[in-house]
Amino acid sequence: MRGGPFHVMKKLLIAFGLLFLAADSPQAIVKYRQTSMKAMGAHMSAISLVVKHQIASRADLAVHAEAIAGLSRSVGEWFPAGTGPDKVKSGAKAEIWRQMPELKRDAARLERESAKLVELAKKKDTKAFDAQYIVVANTCDDCHDVFRVRD
Ligand code: HEC
Repeated sequence: MRGGPFHVMKKLLIAFGLLFLAADSPQAIVKYRQTSMKAMGAHMSAISLVVKHQIASRADLAVHAEAIAGLSRSVGEWFPAGTGPDKVKSGAKAEIWRQMPELKRDAARLERESAKLVELAKKKDTKAFDAQYIVVANTCDDCHDVFRVRD
């Protein structure tokens, strides 16, 4: 049977299956971006407890900042066509797909500001880190103000 028509068909079916698997569904993409946003939110909340002096240890700050900085590099890619509110239930405004350069600019800003946060955490520059935390939080808010539906 090796090389026979059945074998070829099986190969084709496997290839087709892989192709099908490779295409992420719009629902999964929205779930992924919301989950990743929430992850950045959790890291920001953890940092805020330190900045507000409710937690004394600054040991994890670089790790939290690095997670945000790492994810920030992908934020601009989390909004492919077909994942807007006209297609999937989402907190993303339709404006995103009319103003993609602006969204990407906001994402690039987060990338820059969170990279600075990582540097300051590594330098253990407490005062500058705490000030930069506010800058990063404002960067999140600025994009949300324009592109995210208010809860
Ligand atoms: C470039 C724009 C942009 C930036 C920058 C941005 N966000 Fe978002 N964020 C969005 C959009 C748009 C949504 C709505 C996504 C959706 O529902 O599909 C969102 C949703 C969220 C959510 C809700 C997720 C859910 O469960 O529905 C949280 C939490 C969040 N962002 C936190 C953050 C934090 C923290 C930062 C900064 C570290 C940040 N975001 C930076 C655009 C941005």
